[in-house]
Amino acid sequence: SGYVTLDIGYKNTGATKSAITFLDGELGILKYRGYPIEQLAEKSSFIEVAYLLIYGALPTEQQLTDFQYEISRYTLVHEDMKKFFDGFPSKSHPMGQLSSLVCALSAFYPESLKPIQTNEEVHLSIIKVLAKMATLVSWIYKKSLGHPVIYPRNKYDYVTNFLYMTFGQRTEEIEIDPVVVSAMNVLLILHADHEQNCSTSTVRIVGSSESNIYASVSAGISALWGPLHGGANQAVIEMLEKIKEDGGDTDKWIAKAKDKNDPFRLMGFGHRVYKNFDPRAKIIKKACDDILEKLGIDDEVLDIAKKLEEVALKDPYFVERKLYPNVDFYSGIIYRALGFPTDMFTVLFALGRLPGWIAQWKEMKDNKEPIGRPRQIYTGATTRDYVDIASR
Ligand code: CMC
Repeated sequence: SGYVTLDIGYKNTGATKSAITFLDGELGILKYRGYPIEQLAEKSSFIEVAYLLIYGALPTEQQLTDFQYEISRYTLVHEDMKKFFDGFPSKSHPMGQLSSLVCALSAFYPESLKPIQTNEEVHLSIIKVLAKMATLVSWIYKKSLGHPVIYPRNKYDYVTNFLYMTFGQRTEEIEIDPVVVSAMNVLLILHADHEQNCSTSTVRIVGSSESNIYASVSAGISALWGPLHGGANQAVIEMLEKIKEDGGDTDKWIAKAKDKNDPFRLMGFGHRVYKNFDPRAKIIKKACDDILEKLGIDDEVLDIAKKLEEVALKDPYFVERKLYPNVDFYSGIIYRALGFPTDMFTVLFALGRLPGWIAQWKEMKDNKEPIGRPRQIYTGATTRDYVDIASR
């Protein structure tokens, strides 16, 4: 009943007011809480950006120290959570595992189930999600190798701790390369929020029914998994590998992407909102060159990626449709250089996006937004009389 505006895919419908992230798709501008993404990527750290997104202001030195200390107190996950890993097939996709594990945390931390919470209780839930997610992501990787998990070492900062749990070994001490730490910080910062995308809107809408923070974040992880969203970073590397095996003929693959009878799309290209360039892609492309050089890695797929970009940007099909490389086009090449296997890429995106999801979940609660409930236009049958099965 009543008047319903139809906007399939929410291309023009604003679902909320938000003071977190500003994005101008025509001008290629992205700011978190007013701070340009370029400045944050260059000067800040992931955990500082997390604080900024969630609490609205850059922390003072004391606030940052306290925030890191609080997180470090909750990096352990309940030992019984390890039993889940025994149930997953060894090759199951890390995103399916992460979504399930994060939702399962709600069973171990039931205080999060209270629909109405004090500010302190909400803060504690936020700290716990941030702390435990890094541990879970690293454990998913360890389990995929059949290696024992590594427990957090709280003398490290968030990102170093994550890399330590991921690449560390029980058998020997390892040094975490500062080049890798800083590359990881940049990647996580660039992914930290992106206003009302598919996964973030999912987190808000699930949270709007007063579901707990773990269930809300878990839903966001599921939404991010798809190849049209966060799953694109894995899809890009798989595509580049295929093109490499196929002899590196980029023109042929560009032609495939343009062919409307071929379902193939140029992965890592195009964006719902950016119609000029994706500012994150600019930063990532440069970071990619820098990091591969610093680590002394020569990756043939980087050359293929650059060639694809060059050809596509001159092609009228891509120019007319304003299709440019997005954040995922080069991120996978960096993850690979850092030592992550391809199926971990989207999980890393999720780790980066976590502060954004949390900030948006908190904002939705602080604003006391009503339950999310879209309308529809019904196109099904009008009234039909039930027919007994023998007469159908
Ligand atoms: N390759 C070939 N053609 C494309 C591509 C592509 N990557 N992206 C869009 N098009 C075409 C599309 O076929 C359509 O053509 P036409 O007007 O002739 O029908 C036109 O461009 C508009 O595309 P759309 O699908 O209507 O645009 P959308 O805003 O609904 O979709 C998108 C945006 C990102 C889902 C899409 O560009 C895409 O599928 N890209 C590849 C997947 C990808 O890289 N996703 C990561 C997005 S960035 C990270 C994130 O935030 O998740």
